[in-house]
Amino acid sequence: MRILSGIQPSGKLHLGNYFGMMQPAIALQDEGEAFYFIADYHSLTTVTNPAELRQNVRDVAIDFLACGLDPAKAVFFRQSDVPEVTELSWLLSCVCPMGLLERCHSYKDKTARGLEATHGLFAYPILMAADILLYDSDIVPVGKDQKQHVEVTRDLALKMNHLYGEGLLRIPQPRIRESSAAVPGTDGAKMSKSYRNTIPLFETAKVTEKLIKGIKTDSTPVEDPKDPSDSIIVDLFRLVASPGEVEVMEEAFRKGGTGYGDFKKRLFSAIWEHFEPMRAGRAELEANPDQVDAILRAGAEKARSVAAKVLSRVRQAVGL
Ligand code: ADP
Ligand code: TRP
Repeated sequence: MRILSGIQPSGKLHLGNYFGMMQPAIALQDEGEAFYFIADYHSLTTVTNPAELRQNVRDVAIDFLACGLDPAKAVFFRQSDVPEVTELSWLLSCVCPMGLLERCHSYKDKTARGLEATHGLFAYPILMAADILLYDSDIVPVGKDQKQHVEVTRDLALKMNHLYGEGLLRIPQPRIRESSAAVPGTDGAKMSKSYRNTIPLFETAKVTEKLIKGIKTDSTPVEDPKDPSDSIIVDLFRLVASPGEVEVMEEAFRKGGTGYGDFKKRLFSAIWEHFEPMRAGRAELEANPDQVDAILRAGAEKARSVAAKVLSRVRQAVGL
């Protein structure tokens, strides 16, 4: 079974990225042949500063490795180190109905938020389909918001197979943690870099604490009971605490007598402790940039050998 996922290097990784995509992907690296990559071509749709892009790629690589991606188990690489993906993307473009892209939420959301309506942003799901199909992927672990893109991928693969021969492209399945809603940000909306409501994974204690203090709460007085089922604090605490600890916090909510400030302190400690081992690993990797480069280079080589075979199969099938 081949598992594949990618993450864009377009800013600091946050709790939403970790619990929505990285943690499930890392858990899956033991279950099959995992291919994980840094989607730098995709980031060009939003990042136009070259120095910033390079820095982001480095940061995401270090973050992912520090969080537990094991390069001995998973092939870890930079998307642009396998330029074959852009060729497959073109071949898919030629069979992709406009309506399929016009239905995609992500383009509409991003342009509504003020991003320029470029062709790259519009065609982004085709490049993502190429990422997935180029490696004969079976399983694609992603957050809920990416499910539609995996569906587009399936549609394109089915169409290619119909036109050029059954079995040409492997049909992938999305793997989404349906049980978990999107991780909420400090304002209660989905945590996202674009909403400025994130809690980054690797900030200083001071910044992290300040962001947690800023979590939106209602104006229930300290002594009154509070509703744990409608609290961003409890939702985030659930991600990093044991069921027993969550129960204690929920009980304290219902009982009254504890203010939101106190609960936020407990949340900060739990988040800080949860990521402690990864912070230590991150510091080590930061001190060894050559090691990170070597991991990405070795990953690119392995990824490229798989990609070349699949691309050659598709080129042949379409008549090139
Ligand atoms: P952002 O919204 O911050 O720009 P991305 O769109 O780059 O994040 O998402 C990268 C990965 O992290 C995707 O698989 C996405 O589904 C997942 N993800 C992002 N935010 C969340 C969230 N709040 N909850 C769950 N998963 C998320
Ligand atoms: N579009 C994804 C995101 O924004 C990143 C991505 C690019 C991806 N190619 C992929 C994810 C292939 C899974 C598979 O999060």
